[in-house]
Amino acid sequence: MKLIVTRDYESLSKAAAEMVRKEIEKKKDTVLGLATGSTPIGMYNELIRMHREEGLDFSRVVTFNLDEYVGIGYDDPNSYHYYMNANFFDHININKNNVHIPDGNSENMEESCRLYDELIEKKGGIDLQILGIGANGHIGFNEPGEELYVGTCVVNLDERTIKDNSRFFKSIDDVPTKAITMGIGSIMKARKIILLASGKNKREAIKRLVEGKKVTTRLPASFLLLHPDVTVIVDEEAYGISR
Ligand code: GLP
Repeated sequence: MKLIVTRDYESLSKAAAEMVRKEIEKKKDTVLGLATGSTPIGMYNELIRMHREEGLDFSRVVTFNLDEYVGIGYDDPNSYHYYMNANFFDHININKNNVHIPDGNSENMEESCRLYDELIEKKGGIDLQILGIGANGHIGFNEPGEELYVGTCVVNLDERTIKDNSRFFKSIDDVPTKAITMGIGSIMKARKIILLASGKNKREAIKRLVEGKKVTTRLPASFLLLHPDVTVIVDEEAYGISR
């Protein structure tokens, strides 16, 4: 696992965007795995800038998002469908037919999860997966517990995640309790992974991850220690350096 500690959130965002740019320039039809949450916003802004000012071309790029809440309409600003359009897709030249986000409103969840993993395979697998990390060490919505799912699945959200994510909702009661997420196995199949973490709230999870000694379902991100090509980019606050 490679660790990059940046001075602040802005340089973290630029470093991540630079890695994405390299990947797209190397392979025009790169398959990207994308994350939501507040952490990747700066990276998306920088990629939008690269598209507008430097002509970074997304026309053949294929994307698969990590997760989506269950039971939220896609016109709801809290849905990840809405988030991705508002924060990224509406501002670049991506072909929306190449965009994939798990369906949190499917009539047949089991089938929809199976098809999502199948489609990733069909598109050749994920070349570069972007991840954030929950304060409890979750990746995607794979929450700490006794066991973790291998493939895309429906999960119950952890109390801490519901509390952390309630900042985006009117009240904590409005936060969905279930989500659909790529499983740990779906994530681990990506050829290259970048995990981003910013701010004090992530310090404990990052400390446990970069210690790098144990893999445990109690810290889902720890499975990344088994992956051959992971870069963790954290700012000084998340790493535990206070100026
Ligand atoms: C969310 C998402 C994750 C994200 C994490 C951190 O709930 N499901 O994919 O990485 O939690 O979010 P944030 O970047 O807002 O701290």
